[in-house]
Amino acid sequence: MCLISSISELVTGKFKINQIISIGGWVRNKRHSKLGISFINLYDGSYIYDIQIIANNTLYNYKNEILSITSGCSLKVTGQLKFSLKNKKNYEIYATKIEILGWVENPGKYPISPKKHSLKYLREVSHLRSRTTIISCITRIRHNIALFIHNFLNKKNFFCINTPIITTIDTEGSGKMFKVSTLDFENIQYKKNINIFKKDFFGKESFLTVSGQLNLETYACSMSKVYTFGPTFRAENSNTKRHLAEFWMLELEIAFTNLKNIMKFAEKMLKKIFTYFLNFHKKEITFLSNKLEKNLFYKIEKIILNKFNIIEYTEAVNILKNCKEKFLNSIIWGNDLSSEHEKYLTNKYFNNAVIIFNYPKKIKAFYMYLNDDNRTVASMDILLPDIGEIIGGSQRENRIDFLDKRLKELRLNKNHYWWYRDLRKYGTVPHSGFGLGFERLLSYITGLNNIKDVIPFPRTPYNARF
Ligand code: 4AD
Ligand code: MG
Repeated sequence: MCLISSISELVTGKFKINQIISIGGWVRNKRHSKLGISFINLYDGSYIYDIQIIANNTLYNYKNEILSITSGCSLKVTGQLKFSLKNKKNYEIYATKIEILGWVENPGKYPISPKKHSLKYLREVSHLRSRTTIISCITRIRHNIALFIHNFLNKKNFFCINTPIITTIDTEGSGKMFKVSTLDFENIQYKKNINIFKKDFFGKESFLTVSGQLNLETYACSMSKVYTFGPTFRAENSNTKRHLAEFWMLELEIAFTNLKNIMKFAEKMLKKIFTYFLNFHKKEITFLSNKLEKNLFYKIEKIILNKFNIIEYTEAVNILKNCKEKFLNSIIWGNDLSSEHEKYLTNKYFNNAVIIFNYPKKIKAFYMYLNDDNRTVASMDILLPDIGEIIGGSQRENRIDFLDKRLKELRLNKNHYWWYRDLRKYGTVPHSGFGLGFERLLSYITGLNNIKDVIPFPRTPYNARF
């Protein structure tokens, strides 16, 4: 007799056939036969498939309780492990005891009934949606991929640095940060030219970070190979399938490394993640292909098997200018590429992943290394078909005079960046890094094309309910 086991343990063969085990879970579905036998599909979130419980009318609470079980009830089941008579590969439990731990109030109104629900509907019940096969499947994939990334980087001798979430400086310069404050804004007395944030918790205007990069750079300039993997926040008012106000980003920073090397590393790392996903998630891929994207496996395999196309921004602009496609946004050297432009390059022109590098400095952040042409910076974006940008990175400006010039051009107060500048004053080194949007990655590999479905509780404009 064991303590509570999980379905994932059963399927990995931890227990012997005929062994008595106990399992806890929730009812997905049930069927009562006229012969006095009930078939209950139980899930516990540990595995992609439910386990069937067979309960017969000799159980002491069969009539009073078991016949009244509905979807969503929580049970503790003790019974004998058997192979299914129908399919010898499947396990079943012949119950010797079923305890109902939690009933469902008003079963007809249970929000997660066994019928099919749209992903949009499930977002309305985010607190219950992990009870569905699809969301629990995505959640396990999310867990596995995060673990794989940590292990992969550990093997490559990176150190994980937990960079702060609260910051007083902006990294990306887009001015879309959430304020962090304990000031009583309703009752505050505003006076001209008085900095009210002096009285605030941190004595300075403070924000939720848009990126851990600047802090990460300090550790790269002492521990050489580092990464951070945490939540980042952007107050962008864009309610698209690719944007969240709170998303997780994996950021890497490597000392003694230039843009070219970081591009190579990013491609290699993405391919490793994709390969791991294909090799170790066969059941999930079959399930997701049936539900969402038929060619999921081949879509990912294609990315793994082909070299990424690497082009300069200027070349990308020329391709777009000379193609026959009609775009809504005009193509002007110096402007950011819009998603329709990116999509044309990935989906049509190259029909695969593309790395675009050396963007104009005026559309990129202050910290990027200025190229000799004086108008572009050593930056790169990795674009995948359909989803677009998944990675953004650059070689960092490691020359103090260039950095100061750039801060001045962008009207950023260099005193605010004093510690960041110190890295350039004391033993500066070339260093580079990139950020991978974790939800964009998950959205791509799972085929769930709305990023809101691959994070447990999405935060988007007007939505932080759960
Ligand atoms: O290109 P971004 O803005 O780069 C940075 O933040 C750098 N500091 C990274 C670095 O060099 N250390 O963001 C990196 C990635 C994007 O390529 C995208 O995948 C994702 O983060 N991303 C978002 N994902 C979801 N919602 C949003 N609003 C996102 N904004 C960026
Ligand atoms: Mg970017």
